[in-house]
Amino acid sequence: MCGIVGCVLDKKAAPTIIESIKKLEYRGYDSVGIATVTDKINLKKGSGKIKDVNNEIHLTDIDGNTGIAHVRWATHGIPTKENAHPHCDCDEKISVVHNGIIENYQELKEQLLEEGHIFKSDTDTEVIPHLIEKYMKEGQEFLVAVQSTIKRLKGSYALAIISKDEPGKIIGARNESPLIVGLADHGNFLASDVPAILKETNKVIYLDNEEIIVLTQDNVDIMDLELNKKEKNIDIITWSPEMAEKGGYDHFMLKEIHEEPQVIKDTLSESNKINEIVSNFKNFNRICFVACGTSYHASLIGEYLIETELAIPTEVILASEFEFFKKTLDDHTLVIFITQSGETADTLKALKIAKEKSETLAIVNVVGSSITREADHVIFTRAGPEIGVAATKTYLSQLICIYLLVAHMAENNELLEKLGKLSELSEELLTREEQIKEISKKYKYARDFFYIGRGFNYPTALEGALKLKEITYIHGEGYAAGELKHGPLALIEDNIPVVGLLPPGPSYAKTFSNLQEIISRGADMIILGSKDDKQIDMIEDKLLFNPVIDEILAPLLYIIDLQLLAYYISILKGIDPDKPKNLAKSVTVQ
Ligand code: F6R
Repeated sequence: MCGIVGCVLDKKAAPTIIESIKKLEYRGYDSVGIATVTDKINLKKGSGKIKDVNNEIHLTDIDGNTGIAHVRWATHGIPTKENAHPHCDCDEKISVVHNGIIENYQELKEQLLEEGHIFKSDTDTEVIPHLIEKYMKEGQEFLVAVQSTIKRLKGSYALAIISKDEPGKIIGARNESPLIVGLADHGNFLASDVPAILKETNKVIYLDNEEIIVLTQDNVDIMDLELNKKEKNIDIITWSPEMAEKGGYDHFMLKEIHEEPQVIKDTLSESNKINEIVSNFKNFNRICFVACGTSYHASLIGEYLIETELAIPTEVILASEFEFFKKTLDDHTLVIFITQSGETADTLKALKIAKEKSETLAIVNVVGSSITREADHVIFTRAGPEIGVAATKTYLSQLICIYLLVAHMAENNELLEKLGKLSELSEELLTREEQIKEISKKYKYARDFFYIGRGFNYPTALEGALKLKEITYIHGEGYAAGELKHGPLALIEDNIPVVGLLPPGPSYAKTFSNLQEIISRGADMIILGSKDDKQIDMIEDKLLFNPVIDEILAPLLYIIDLQLLAYYISILKGIDPDKPKNLAKSVTVQ
């Protein structure tokens, strides 16, 4: 949901800033803009992806060692040049980039309009430079004017602000939207996320809510809202800059799918730490998972695992719906939050509610993210940076953590042993990418898709359908195999593509019958099953053979095929799977 960058360097800032903001394009790509300071504010912005706007108006072509930039995911105001950030005050002396939502902007805007301020955009953000202008005109210096402004704002913000009067300085502030500081020998940085600054430095300070930052080329002061200085830890990032590059692949999504065997290995190495967390658990009589999107699907698999392996009543709640379920929380409930970014606003809000009554565990990919700082226990998924908007490798790493968690809670060594073999099996899966590419050709013009699975593999059907929707814009729906006959079967007609998940195991026979019901109504079936399955051999439709793996572990492998299927259909349709329309990777608005 929007990305911001700012830096004060010992050289012209624009080329570095634009390289940095490109690394945040996963957070939004509706529009982009940059402002630098010389003896004036120099501003360039436009709507569209960074590459296209840059080709048109040469964003790097402005002077100044101090600058700020923004990629936008529109909330207030459609994606136009006028609504693109940075936004300025009436005299273009102050310029601001903002990630978040100012909830009381209407009220502030009305007051400022009455006082004669002229607004150029429909955004909530524009009240900020006008408020700073107002306070500076009343005699406050830049920093104090920012402080006064922040005290008037309700909502979420990560801000970077420059002033014509103080060219070598950026003032930043954070509340409920992520913001980090990067410290380098050649200058200092502010950014929404680590990939933006990885090429420049590995020294990072994670900012907390209600902090104000003053950044110059050789100094960083971090203060509370009363401008009292604070001591902060410097963290060293272990991700390499290459991890945030495409490394020869056409898209980040494909690269990230190919990283899955390694991600499985890396995440499995967390086993001992997970065991340690488990050994400190109380006796819970109820477990809740809370998450959104793909992380919600990973949670659903957790529910099946806990119910079957541990017999503890478990439920999965969408983070955006969580507050309706808070009354039944108590200190015998463990609430598990699953999130790649660790910044999803709905999930963060739910965590704050849950903490009041229950023990909380977060399974997170991004180190230093807000959720890691709020939860009682944290497990890191070790997937490395995921840049493609559609979650792939991080989903798998979430699943590995959940399986490890349950295996340790259940003291199930056999399950732990089986998990150890998965990385190798996933490598085998990736060797048949060409087959999936071939299959995808048939579906360029498909309008609807269904995905069917039972038990542990029902959430995989949901996740397969979500991947398809996100990056191909084809309508996809996942169903529990047995549920189809209770309504959706009415939609099955000749040649409608249906993906059936049919691993061996106790659910096999029933799922097989459900698939027969679909086939006999003319559907075009894609079955994901096991090599040694003689029954599916008899079905004339095409087959994708997975390594032989039981239904309890199948979610960890079958999803790879579905990610690749969605990817190749997306490519055929000419869509950029890394930047699907209307989506952003880090959803920091509720
Ligand atoms: C789908 C996808 C989203 C996220 C969701 C939650 O591919 O990436 O559905 O899973 O926005 O994000 P996190 O996991 O960061 O909380």
